[in-house]
Amino acid sequence: MSWQFNEENEKKFQTLLTRYPKKNSLSLPALWMIQYQDGWISEDAMKYLAKRLDTSPMDIYSIASFYSMFHLQPIGKYNIQICKTLSCKLRGSGDIKKYIENKLGIKAGETSKDMKFTISEVECLGSCGTAPCVCINEDYIQNSTPEILDEIISELK
Ligand code: FES
Repeated sequence: MSWQFNEENEKKFQTLLTRYPKKNSLSLPALWMIQYQDGWISEDAMKYLAKRLDTSPMDIYSIASFYSMFHLQPIGKYNIQICKTLSCKLRGSGDIKKYIENKLGIKAGETSKDMKFTISEVECLGSCGTAPCVCINEDYIQNSTPEILDEIISELK
């Protein structure tokens, strides 16, 4: 096993250890640290974390694979998540998805060859009142339109 926390994450991990009565309660924050460190969560990293938390790799995998915000394979530098739930669907998220797919030449669920963009369709982003909502990395684009996204994606390219 070669994966390990970098120095900064190791310090955070040590601090968190003092705050939780049970080690495996750190699973979620530690998975976030892994994802911030590498951009995704590898099998090696899950095995490492399981060892650090005195639990099984399957426990860690079951948590990591349950939440759609954790990436179990490398993704693009810009992760474009398009909400496909009702409010957004009714307000045109389907057209937005088609527009982005055409602009980038990849389909939802795919990553561009240059590893710059990943497109995914996700369930409600919690911004139904400003539908349609698209999230790029951690930034929400509310009341989004193909025109707004065209400008943003062009700048990111
Ligand atoms: S339905 Fe799209 S943010 Fe809630």
